[in-house]
Amino acid sequence: MLAGKRIVLGVTGGIAAYKAVDLCRRLVDAGAHVVPVMTEGAEHFVGRATFSALASEPVQTSLWDEVHPIPHTHLGQSADLIVVAPATARLLSAYASGLSTDLLTNTLLATRAPVVVCPAMHTEMWEHPAVQANIATLRTRGVHIVEPESGRLAGGDVGAGRLAAPETILALIESVLGASGDLVGMKVVVSAGGTREPIDAVRVIANRSSGKQGYAIAGEAAARGARVTLVSTVDLPVPAGVEVCSVETAAQMGAALAQLASAANVVIMAAAVADFRPAGDVSGKSTKLKKSNGIPEVVLEPTADILAGLGADKPSGQVLVGFAAETDDLIANASGKMRAKNLDLVVANDVSQPGVGFQHDTNAVTLVRSNGTTTSIALADKKVIAKAVVDTVVEILATKIK
Ligand code: CTP
Repeated sequence: MLAGKRIVLGVTGGIAAYKAVDLCRRLVDAGAHVVPVMTEGAEHFVGRATFSALASEPVQTSLWDEVHPIPHTHLGQSADLIVVAPATARLLSAYASGLSTDLLTNTLLATRAPVVVCPAMHTEMWEHPAVQANIATLRTRGVHIVEPESGRLAGGDVGAGRLAAPETILALIESVLGASGDLVGMKVVVSAGGTREPIDAVRVIANRSSGKQGYAIAGEAAARGARVTLVSTVDLPVPAGVEVCSVETAAQMGAALAQLASAANVVIMAAAVADFRPAGDVSGKSTKLKKSNGIPEVVLEPTADILAGLGADKPSGQVLVGFAAETDDLIANASGKMRAKNLDLVVANDVSQPGVGFQHDTNAVTLVRSNGTTTSIALADKKVIAKAVVDTVVEILATKIK
């Protein structure tokens, strides 16, 4: 799939730059023509000779070495894809604000090719609102983000920020370049898992959702060529080619979806969002309540209904899918939710049945469409259910495009 593809590999100045050597090797082994571009910072971590020896061309670092062809426009225009690994906070900031400071940022601004950005940095930096805002901006512009993993970081710290594994980056590159199937060109956003609402610094109100059904749907849509972003509260193996946006609370999930949904062709809300959360500001929950102070009185307040908000602002042509976990009157309740939230499809499951819904590998659902048709799928693996859901989404998309 990568054979003959011209891939610009941008390497910026982080300790994970040494891992880009492995990525470079794998891309070349897969048949890609790899053009390495290093920033000045990257050269503090890895020597030019390493990339020059492994890549398909010598490393480029400067805007000023050659004038013909103009390096950044030539690199940007001729690339089939640009991948930046690792991407530092500085690179993210420059790219998000359109600042051209060196050959790599110039190249990123001078391309129409798909761009894959793989951030890596210390946890505090990764979680900083400025960095997260830049990530959100890049996502809305269609940049593919391979989120960092949790693990050991430079200096012995442990936390989120470690460069994603080379196989994860490679899988996303392959899916971006080799997309085929009945969802090619479609942007699909899927939410998965149960939200966790803090009571104090350590305790949360959670629910039993495992996220497995959402992950299966995301994997099915990606396998059929869609560009899939999973807004997730859980840490399950990420299906090939799927981008993950990690969140924890209903408010965070709502904010992520508000950013992503308007540009999506399909939004599938498989997450179990808390309907209530402990009242009060999150900053007021940053200390631990002591047992010795007695049993706390937890006052709840409602969360916003994310799906209802998405339904109210649904762009024309978008397919909006909700889930309905019920214990009685399955179809009537599901149809009620469909009307109330302006949905095209409700995946309804009777969670009182054995093997159905939360935490199981299996599910049994009834797909209720806004045109009144219903299809029941008996107890089956969540991947089988995912296929049926995506099949129905494809059918509905076809009616909207006509
Ligand atoms: N949902 C949401 N935001 C909420 C609650 C629910 O987006 N605050 C979404 C869920 O992701 C699901 C759909 O709404 O796709 C239905 O969720 P469900 O819990 O079955 O129903 P509710 O609307 O919350 O109503 P109830 O709990 O009374 O059945």
